[in-house]
Amino acid sequence: MDVTVQRTPPLRGTLSLPPDKAICHRAVLAAALGIGTTEIHPWPLADDCQRTLQLVADLGVPVKKSPQTVWIDGRGDAGLRAPTQELFCGESGTTLRLAAGLLAGQPFTTRLSAGPSLSRRPMRRIVDPLSEMGARLEGRRMAASDPGSRELYPPLTVHGRRPLRAVRCEMELPSAQVKSAILLAGLFADGATSVVERVPTRDHTERILRAFGAGIRREGRGVTIEPGALRSPGALVLPGDFSSAAFFVVAASCVPGSRLVLEGVGLNPTRLGLLEILKRMGGCLTTTVSEEGWEPRGTVVVEARSLRGVSVGPSEVPGVIDELPVLMVAAACATGTTRFHGVGELRVKETDRIRSMVNGLRQLGARIVLPAPDAVEIDGGPLRGAVAESAGDHRTAMSLAVAGLVAEGATTVRGVACVAKSFPEFFDHLRAVAGSPTVKTVDNP
Ligand code: S3P
Repeated sequence: MDVTVQRTPPLRGTLSLPPDKAICHRAVLAAALGIGTTEIHPWPLADDCQRTLQLVADLGVPVKKSPQTVWIDGRGDAGLRAPTQELFCGESGTTLRLAAGLLAGQPFTTRLSAGPSLSRRPMRRIVDPLSEMGARLEGRRMAASDPGSRELYPPLTVHGRRPLRAVRCEMELPSAQVKSAILLAGLFADGATSVVERVPTRDHTERILRAFGAGIRREGRGVTIEPGALRSPGALVLPGDFSSAAFFVVAASCVPGSRLVLEGVGLNPTRLGLLEILKRMGGCLTTTVSEEGWEPRGTVVVEARSLRGVSVGPSEVPGVIDELPVLMVAAACATGTTRFHGVGELRVKETDRIRSMVNGLRQLGARIVLPAPDAVEIDGGPLRGAVAESAGDHRTAMSLAVAGLVAEGATTVRGVACVAKSFPEFFDHLRAVAGSPTVKTVDNP
């Protein structure tokens, strides 16, 4: 599928975003381990979340689903069964990495397989700490393309062990997925397991485990989990996904005269780096928390402003990791230069997102230099419509469509069916605020 986007008049209206994918994965995994039935509502359409749900069903956990709601009948930490087949994670890195942590503590062996793009993403980052805890993990090497490298790729075979060894892990790489894998494994350890972060990452795992009654505490840069059983809190209402809201936050900031209200959005502070950076760029954003709960949520109001270039450094990257592609669009629309440093992790997402975004924005006329492999400098200026490629990456596809709203003339983004991974409703939402004539999708054979 391709999409053609015309330069749009001001964006106006109110949107409710689909439920948060990152929180949904964690809710499903915790529910599978917790004693009692957990109701998760509203259920996201995103492909990735179906993978986590299927994975726990394949581990013998009873699951019921209506279009909007899922019920998971957790049987406690001894309730998982060795699956009869490999566990297919599709393209969902969060499914695979978090499940590896959970499976490291099971008294059986599982094999986690992946689709083509996830099969090229690095797994050494979880294999090392989980091995230190006593599980045995085997991955695939890529000797032909990566000779001499220690890196490992899916499929991953996890030979679980119970109990695991409690460890204290100093994380070199800021990664919520790695932290979460260790914390989930920590539930099955022989003592308290700690993870110390140099730079804080999203804390959804800590929050969901607390909601399920785990003994988990934060001390400074460290988080410690005690082994033990989880208990279902009953019903969990998922907030809207801030990472999906991000496309509309940037679109409304950049299209002159726009004003959008985004309701029911997750406002977990560890996810809101985009808002801080846009404010520094001169953006006009107001957030109101309507409910603190186990995950805070509320409203974001965005009004267009002329933006100016800023510097974004490594300590800010985890808080904006999934929003960097669309932040690059804001940079291309700003006055002056925006410098991104320490963004190398973008190269190991669903695609190399530095390459896909730089290629796409250059097609639209942006001036970009790459002073180092993990740095990008974008000079803001007028964009003009062109044909650009998604590179099969959902966030690149949606970010370039947002750029198309600002570019003069028509912009075609090729290969946008990939948005189903995280946000299948994206183009409907875009039409709702930009108008149908502005956004046309075409299915290709
Ligand atoms: C995620 C963490 C981030 C993010 C990914 C989801 C999570 O990955 O990019 O989309 O839910 O924990 P890393 O932990 O690899 O930075």
